[in-house]
Amino acid sequence: MPVSDLGRRATAAAALVAVLTAAGLAGRSLASSTPAIYTAAQAGTGAKLFSANCASCHGDQLQGNVGPALTGPNLVTLAKNTKLKVGDLFGFMALQMPLNAPASLKKDQYAAIMAYILKFNGYPAGQKALTYAAAMSSTVSMTSLKK
Ligand code: HEC
Repeated sequence: MPVSDLGRRATAAAALVAVLTAAGLAGRSLASSTPAIYTAAQAGTGAKLFSANCASCHGDQLQGNVGPALTGPNLVTLAKNTKLKVGDLFGFMALQMPLNAPASLKKDQYAAIMAYILKFNGYPAGQKALTYAAAMSSTVSMTSLKK
């Protein structure tokens, strides 16, 4: 095989490595900017609680009804305009919601609902359950990560 062909192959291989490295780095930085702060089991509990206490006004797909959507463009716009954190959204919903009975749920129920809202919006589940206190003080950015 001509030497020039070898050179071309080496260049192609180097380019492939560069692409793979960039993809790997991008994956890592995305994961580190969205830490896993709830468990899948917690989000499952939260889904039922949301359905019973919140969906009548916010929609069963969080799409909004009487109350604003908690996903999609509404959430993305709110996030951009207010630099929204998980703690901001949680503080509001745990103290003001349900609109007709504010702060009427148990603390761990609010945390589970938050877990569900995070899951619905594309946040990763992990090993550690979200507590009420951690949710209140969370500085993790709150938006919709779904594409
Ligand atoms: C009776 C209707 C109703 C119920 C039930 C209800 N909400 Fe709401 N919710 C609203 C309305 C209306 C607003 C807008 C209030 C405002 O802007 O002051 C709102 C706002 C919110 C917001 C702020 C969203 C934003 O875009 O500003 C969150 C988060 C939220 N609700 C979560 C919940 C959760 C979680 C539950 C269940 C525990 C719940 N709500 C139950 C009517 C309701």
